[in-house]
Amino acid sequence: MLITFEGIDGCGKSTQIEKLKHYFEKEGTTVRLFREPGGTELSEKIRHLLLHDDGDMDPVTELLLFSAARSQLISEKVLPLLREGSVVILDRFYDSTTAYQGFGRQSAPLNEIETLNALATHHTVPDVTFYLRISPEDAALRTAGSEKDRMEKAGDQFFKKVAAGYDQLAEANERFITIDAARSVEEIHAEILTHLKNRVSS
Ligand code: ADP
Ligand code: TYD
Repeated sequence: MLITFEGIDGCGKSTQIEKLKHYFEKEGTTVRLFREPGGTELSEKIRHLLLHDDGDMDPVTELLLFSAARSQLISEKVLPLLREGSVVILDRFYDSTTAYQGFGRQSAPLNEIETLNALATHHTVPDVTFYLRISPEDAALRTAGSEKDRMEKAGDQFFKKVAAGYDQLAEANERFITIDAARSVEEIHAEILTHLKNRVSS
């Protein structure tokens, strides 16, 4: 089973993923967790270029680098794990590319990004995608104290477009479960578990 988490920076993905991983482990289910971009030696090197390099980066170059990091992670780690029946949790997947590079940066037309996503994922689609929905203003309050990476420096208007992009994706795709992420950590965790249990039992 492939579970992905999406949302703008500061929505609380990492916090919820850790809690979910802990829950699965208590149940005796082994889960593997990867972050995007990253998760393999090569993908972590690409992550560094994407997030911590201050040089000017062409938007299409950015789009291709996120996709390259993804292709490596999926082929090297995720597909073998899914084939052996493991539960894999991804902190971001190709919906991030659609939201950030497609809607946010408008680096390429959405249909071209869709084609690139299919290629970079080796046609892998999540079973379920939790979209932690929060306003850019509330998310910014949560990340105010931490150092900003290259993407986070893109500014408020950019994050508004990314958030609107996620809303459209959630509307259009049945695998999306939209969670109100402005609530407490425990409330959100409980809702995620309820959705997962419903899915497994159906
Ligand atoms: P993300 O991985 O989506 O960027 P994090 O899980 O790192 O988000 O959370 C960003 C910040 O917000 C952290 O300081 C975290 O402790 C805090 N946080 C996470 N979830 C909540 C919540 N539901 N309510 C208040 N603060 C939260
Ligand atoms: P990260 O520190 O992992 O942020 P977060 O904790 O919010 O997930 O940084 C990943 C950044 O890269 C984040 O700003 C989103 C961005 N990103 C894209 O723009 N496109 C992508 O395809 C992916 C996977 C991430």
